[in-house]
Amino acid sequence: MTASGPIRTETHDNVLVIISDNPPVNALGQAVRQGLADGIAAALADDVIEAVVIRCDGRTFFAGADITEFGKAPVGPNLPEVCDAIEASDKPVVAAIHGTALGGGCEVALACHYRIAVPSAKLGLPEVKLGLIPGAAGTQRLPRLVGAEAALPLVVGGNPVSANKAESIGLLDAVVTEGNLEQDAIAFARSKIGKPVPRTSEQDANRDGVANPAIFDDFRQQNGRKLKGFDAPEAAIAAVKAAGELPYAEGVAKERELFGKLMAGTQSAAMRHYFFAERAANKIDDIPADTPLIDIARVGIIGAGTMGGGIAMNFLSAGMPVTMLEMKQDALDRGTGVMRKNYENAARRGRMKPEQVDAAMGLLSTTLDYADLADCDLVIEAVFENMDVKKDVFGKLDAHVKQGAILASNTSYLNVDEIAQATSRPGYVLGLHFFSPANIMKLLEIVRGAKTRDDVLATAMKLAKKIGKIAVVSGVCDGFIGNRMLSPRQKQANELVMEGANYWEVDEVLVDFGFPMGPFQMGDLAGLDIGWHRDPSKVTNVREALCAAGRFGQKTGKGFYDYDGSRNRTPSDETKAIIADFAAKAGREQRDIGADEILERLLYPMVNEGAKILDEGMAQRASDIDVVWINGYGWPVFTGGPMFWADTIGLGKVVAGLDKYGLEVSDYLRGKAERGERLTA
Ligand code: 3HC
Ligand code: NAI
Repeated sequence: MTASGPIRTETHDNVLVIISDNPPVNALGQAVRQGLADGIAAALADDVIEAVVIRCDGRTFFAGADITEFGKAPVGPNLPEVCDAIEASDKPVVAAIHGTALGGGCEVALACHYRIAVPSAKLGLPEVKLGLIPGAAGTQRLPRLVGAEAALPLVVGGNPVSANKAESIGLLDAVVTEGNLEQDAIAFARSKIGKPVPRTSEQDANRDGVANPAIFDDFRQQNGRKLKGFDAPEAAIAAVKAAGELPYAEGVAKERELFGKLMAGTQSAAMRHYFFAERAANKIDDIPADTPLIDIARVGIIGAGTMGGGIAMNFLSAGMPVTMLEMKQDALDRGTGVMRKNYENAARRGRMKPEQVDAAMGLLSTTLDYADLADCDLVIEAVFENMDVKKDVFGKLDAHVKQGAILASNTSYLNVDEIAQATSRPGYVLGLHFFSPANIMKLLEIVRGAKTRDDVLATAMKLAKKIGKIAVVSGVCDGFIGNRMLSPRQKQANELVMEGANYWEVDEVLVDFGFPMGPFQMGDLAGLDIGWHRDPSKVTNVREALCAAGRFGQKTGKGFYDYDGSRNRTPSDETKAIIADFAAKAGREQRDIGADEILERLLYPMVNEGAKILDEGMAQRASDIDVVWINGYGWPVFTGGPMFWADTIGLGKVVAGLDKYGLEVSDYLRGKAERGERLTA
């Protein structure tokens, strides 16, 4: 055995095995690249060696370029050079893949002459998720190996494929049994000795894109909505197209040019910020990583309404038994009926198997009796948003649920510390704020009360991962991180329409910015009657007037907008008249308001609120706020989230804008702007 840095080599008679050990994910940093290049050179220089295997120790094959090196001065050898050296070898080189061969890792595999993997392995080119395209000839080698049509979803969509799928499209030569990868790879390599080495850059499967150029437009059409606003996917399509149109070397040059432009742009910087933000959000600064966790085997849910049902589905889908409690049997029947229907819809769309629907629902039991929750390790309350009701529920939980269990509230705004006081064990109480629809939305705000114990918080973080959520810790404040920042945006949206902006223009400005919808479309979708007092004679604002007119939103075919029986909307004359009437009664002068003012007045106050949240310590770090808004409210990830976006345009500009409109500027934000500092690291 010889070793240099994270790479070592082992000789097995006539086969040299090059092994990377660079935890946690074998990222292709400089030392790894150098070691690979040295390993190949050693194999070529040694007459005894007739074939080479490249594999990784630890949990995965190379998961990509080392993202922490991006933006720093490059130190050679670069990855394209290493890949070229591998491919140029006249001794067969086999990639032996386990875990995830992603990005540059997949490109290394493509440069090898053969690729084999265990069944659990995944292969992919996720660079678009970092606002990039593959930069080590992945866009040129992959289409040559599997064809442009099969390459497009991998390169442009960025989602990895399973080993079986990879084999079926020709990306893998073989799928071997789990647990014996190295021996299988050595045997495979030996079987190729003496045969001409197949070089990926010389294959011609990419001719399909030339014979049928419509595949590129078809792909755009099928994926248009997902790709809207992002720069990288269009560059990825151009690169794959170039693979068919240009000789290999020119295609590689084209890829480099596109890659370089994206790397220098703000979208990739924003998306790389997000990559690390999501991972940082997982860490609680003042709690040791080895804090012992509480075992969570059985979950109780109080309330089988919109949220209770969706929350329950998360645990059932993860194979955990759930007991749901309601006040009345018919509420339980209704709630569980909706859950089954949601599961069946998922099965109809092919997202789960019919037997999985039964398995999930089979883990659900229902009750009207708190005694049945005694054995739960975690109970989540999702009853009406009313402090007295919540306190009553938590008092009962305290009386019935075993000691040591975690008691959580899904409240949207209420004070979790006050709720905790209704129990004799506030250390075990915290907020678990899911977003609607709770079985779909990725975000989970974990609300840390003044007395919440470390092990309770750490357990909640771990559990979030188990049920597939992206968790962010928030302190106790009105609306926590997300809804607290939504409030000033909604306030400005309402003000703008009272001053003469059309409400659909307000929505359009946010959609153009990259949100899936604007505030008035969101209101129509959620239902304008949420929280309405249900007295049509009592009308004090636009929303109440719309409800009084039966305009509850999409569900009644009319809200702010008119709907055509499905989701297609048109601005409504009736709504316009209602708004004009309110503006006139309030004596509000009407004027034309441009898109810039609308955007600035909607988003700058959010930045200010975010700054206050940071200043008060309600969020651990600015990037946590970005994670909340990207995953909970559809803030476009290609801007990096509200805090990173503010840093990108400059805090001075944000403060000047707020001053111009006479809006609040916190001392914290003004100070940062004056000192030329950023909100994010
Ligand atoms: N570079 C540097 N660090 C990386 C990394 C990478 N490519 N991938 C992961 N890490 C780090 C994470 O930041 C994290 O660090 P932390 O523990 O300090 O927070 C640690 O590795 C573990 O990562 P995860 O928490 O994400 O671990 P999981 O097991 O949940 O996921 C994974 C593993 C699927 C490999 C996931 O980390 C991942 O998707 N990584 C990114 C893959 C990627 O985007 N590759 C393409 C890179 S761009 C490229 O290759 C350009 C080339 O074309 C030139
Ligand atoms: P909902 O009205 O759909 O459901 C509430 C359910 O709780 C009803 O089925 C009701 O019968 C039951 N319930 C009321 N009091 C009860 C009690 N004392 N004991 C047992 N069951 C009781 O309400 P929704 O939308 O599910 O909201 C629940 C909670 O989740 C609220 O605190 C809300 O603020 C919060 N929330 C709501 C979101 C949403 O978008 N709907 C998003 C995030 C949080």
